[in-house]
Amino acid sequence: MEKTFLMIKPEAVRERKQGEIIDLLLKNRFDIVRMKQFSFNRTQASDFYSIHKEKPFFEGLIVYITSGPVIGLELEKEGAIKLLRQLVGATDPAEARPGTVRYMYGTSLQMNAVHASDSAPSAEKELAIVFSED
Ligand code: CMP
Repeated sequence: MEKTFLMIKPEAVRERKQGEIIDLLLKNRFDIVRMKQFSFNRTQASDFYSIHKEKPFFEGLIVYITSGPVIGLELEKEGAIKLLRQLVGATDPAEARPGTVRYMYGTSLQMNAVHASDSAPSAEKELAIVFSED
């Protein structure tokens, strides 16, 4: 079964939207293998988002993602990576289609409610960072 990773970001946790987002995952038949609430430190966050190191929004992204607890979920489903990206929607909530997580819960390009792995190697890397200490 294909594995992927979803993270519910700080503002969505702060706004108490985590229950609705997890319910949507279950209704879409994703199996939850592992799930935990935690806070990123700067080192972990920089490693997690290392692909964006040179981007102008990197520093803001690290400040944002370390601003409060997030929830990491290891998910399993046939075709999980692609199906989860479809359910999550476009990075910019303003461009996300109705019915997608970011359309419903995203508030800006940065505060877009969730992160979903974009490939099998990313999922592997992200799961290793988030669940390494367990
Ligand atoms: P995510 O899917 O987690 O991947 C990288 C994150 O960086 C993205 O969601 C947004 O939260 C943020 N991001 C991407 N592009 C921009 C941008 N142009 N300005 C600010 N934040 C961005």
